Amino acid sequence: MAGATCLLAALSVVLTVCQAQDANYLIGAGIADITGPAAGINLMGYANPAQISNGLHLRQYSRAFIIADTDKKAPVVFISTDSCMQSQGLKLEVVKRLRTKYGNLYTERNVCISGTHTHSGPGGFHQYLLYDITSLGFVNETLQAYVDGIVKSVERAHDAIKPGNIYINSGELLESNINRSPTAYLENPAEERARYNYDVDKNMTVLKMVDSNNKDIGMISWFAVHCTSMNNTNGLVSSDNKGYASQLMEGGFNDGAFPGTGTFVAAFAQANEGDVSPNTAGPHCLDTGLPCDKDTSTCNGRNEMCVAFGPGKDMFESTKIIGENQYKKALDLYRTASVKLSGPVDFRHSYVDMTNVQVQVNATTKVQTCKPAMGMSFAAGTTDGPGAFNFNQSDTTDNAFWDAIRNFIKKPSAEQVACHHPKPILLDTGEMTFPYAWQPSIVDVQILRIGQLAILAVPAEFTTMSGRRTRDAVTQALVKGGFPANTVSVIAGLSNDYADYVTTYEEYQHQRYEGGSTVYGPHTLEAFIQELLVLADNMTKNEPSALGPNPPNLISEEWSFVPPVVYDFSTKGFGTLLEPLASSYKQGQRVQARFSAAHPRNNRRTEGTYLTVERLKSTDNWEVVYKDSQWCTQFHWKRTSTILGESEVTIIWDIPAEQAPGTYRIQYFGDSKNVLGTITPFSGTSNSFLVTA
Ligand SMILES: *[C@@H]1O[C@H](CO)[C@@H](O)[C@H](O)[C@H]1NC(C)=O
Ligand SMILES: *[C@@H]1O[C@H](CO)[C@@H](O)[C@H](O)[C@H]1NC(C)=O
Ligand SMILES: *[C@@H]1O[C@H](CO)[C@@H](O)[C@H](O)[C@H]1NC(C)=O
Ligand SMILES: *[C@@H]1O[C@H](CO)[C@@H](O)[C@H](O)[C@H]1NC(C)=O
Ligand SMILES: *[C@@H]1O[C@H](CO)[C@@H](O)[C@H](O)[C@H]1NC(C)=O
Ligand SMILES: *[C@@H]1O[C@H](CO)[C@@H](O)[C@H](O)[C@H]1NC(C)=O
Repeated sequence: MAGATCLLAALSVVLTVCQAQDANYLIGAGIADITGPAAGINLMGYANPAQISNGLHLRQYSRAFIIADTDKKAPVVFISTDSCMQSQGLKLEVVKRLRTKYGNLYTERNVCISGTHTHSGPGGFHQYLLYDITSLGFVNETLQAYVDGIVKSVERAHDAIKPGNIYINSGELLESNINRSPTAYLENPAEERARYNYDVDKNMTVLKMVDSNNKDIGMISWFAVHCTSMNNTNGLVSSDNKGYASQLMEGGFNDGAFPGTGTFVAAFAQANEGDVSPNTAGPHCLDTGLPCDKDTSTCNGRNEMCVAFGPGKDMFESTKIIGENQYKKALDLYRTASVKLSGPVDFRHSYVDMTNVQVQVNATTKVQTCKPAMGMSFAAGTTDGPGAFNFNQSDTTDNAFWDAIRNFIKKPSAEQVACHHPKPILLDTGEMTFPYAWQPSIVDVQILRIGQLAILAVPAEFTTMSGRRTRDAVTQALVKGGFPANTVSVIAGLSNDYADYVTTYEEYQHQRYEGGSTVYGPHTLEAFIQELLVLADNMTKNEPSALGPNPPNLISEEWSFVPPVVYDFSTKGFGTLLEPLASSYKQGQRVQARFSAAHPRNNRRTEGTYLTVERLKSTDNWEVVYKDSQWCTQFHWKRTSTILGESEVTIIWDIPAEQAPGTYRIQYFGDSKNVLGTITPFSGTSNSFLVTA
């Protein structure tokens, strides 16, 4: 579309008519800080109640991309957030806020919010009970942090919209993911498996976005791998391997700007990672070092002992390696991308009652989804984060003890038992309504189209083969309906809301963790594919799609048992350095500065920092060289006396090997709460010290 005239006004407030030089799209990218409470709140993902935030390693961000074609009104918005997933309540709140500012421009229909699946982000932001249990219920602070930041990222993307082009590329990234339920994968038909070289998807798909002068705007990559490089003993808020990859790429394109501050935005989004682990050294027994039982992932009958590791020597190094691998591949694909997207921007979205979908699988047989229920093997956890008690993966038999406990909570109806067969039901969530719904019934399905790319947004964790079947079915339907032959579909996992896992029918029979967590029964995948095909059909025919039943917004009814911060106190004075630092350190050494502290929950310091590493430039002139989201810094908080309200922080700076020699100091920024509830900022400064070669 050389010399096309584009009407930015279609998108918003101002009537700006621009001459686009060879630009197919209008593109805007924005980033904002969404970091949740860095202390005292359960980290979501491993369902481990003891995993409570106690500091910060990498901040969480929301990365938003608004894309429209140059002659149509309706944009699509793709947002990737450094959070475990989305929640329906969260999306409804985000869209409500966008509506007050932009009217009907950005709605639940054309906005897709996808979680990177970091397991080191604070929880409590869900509206359905099951997902907030380990966080002691709903945590409004987490929800507000996520909503505020996501909205801000969209506002920034909106304000940055300009004409540009999008290129697509894909390629294989090896040594960065493995299948964590290979025995379930093997249940898939041999002829189907024979079409693939691996039991996980190794392909990364990259979008390169540039303006009409070829200046870089941003990047989205999709690659299927769990963000579980940081394990369930970690208490530091972290965006895990994908968040680190984003920071690396953004740092490179933004001239080393602090994380979250540059104009180039790079999202490492999640795909069909259901059965995909980043712990490439694989599982072994913690006590003996021997391999675990392959099928049940237990060691002497205990799931807790079977844990996957690698590729690094500890979880930090593993996060770094898997993050760097994704970054390097994305950068390579970005630099070499030459296929330009062209054609319309479009979207379809429906709410579907997933508890009641009928699928005609062949001429004679109709199957049906179920009301949600979780299986026994859900409680066994995975080799990325084992569960507790004596649960096993691959469990298709009932256990008298757990049946009794379960029946005490809710005995599943005969209909539920039959519908979920062979899953032995542990939690009959679909038949429990007290105090409100435990899992969703009504979920989102959505397709965003950008030229020959279809983003299939699904509210769950699809396994490798589930994702492949879904992509293939939708791509075929789109091409048959008139889309170009080179149409590409990607799965945007963990989008819009959360309904656990989706396995293939065959994998479901095996009841590994993912099968035990496929909540709408054995035909969940067929139902999702069917509903996506309806959207695809409507899109190719230029018809609207059914809006579907509205989901509830339960946010105002939530129960919460998270105690507030009562007060802080410091005998030595807030911000006092508790131990002087050495006068000199060598490059590569670790500096640890301890300060008398206050609870980080008093202020999330959004778009700010809890710490700085500063370098002396000239007399009394300190330059900030690092903040709290950078890899080389860590912020650890601990209560030293609950009764007195005393606490301390330890700020770690791992001096990079290439750090310029000079005079440095460390500052801590906190906020204390007194008995009346008044919050007051303070800071503390270390003695200065030398860094030498
Ligand atoms: C991976 O991408 C290549 C093109 O780069 C494509 O030919 C291949 O089918 C893809 N594999 C999968 C499993 O999607
Ligand atoms: C978590 O990783 C640390 C190393 O960083 C290791 O010592 C620990 O055993 C791991 N624990 C689990 C349960 O994975
Ligand atoms: C239809 O599917 C059902 C369930 O998978 C199967 O039992 C039946 O044999 C199939 N019928 C035909 C005609 O393929
Ligand atoms: C898990 O397997 C062990 C050993 O086979 C068995 O004793 C235990 O009962 C199983 N757990 C459940 C919940 O079925
Ligand atoms: C969407 O497509 C389905 C068939 O795939 C059709 O039944 C339905 O009527 C279409 N929706 C609308 C609103 O046209
Ligand atoms: C959550 O916090 C927001 C902003 O502080 C407040 O407006 C809202 O009422 C709170 N919601 C709940 C359910 O507590």
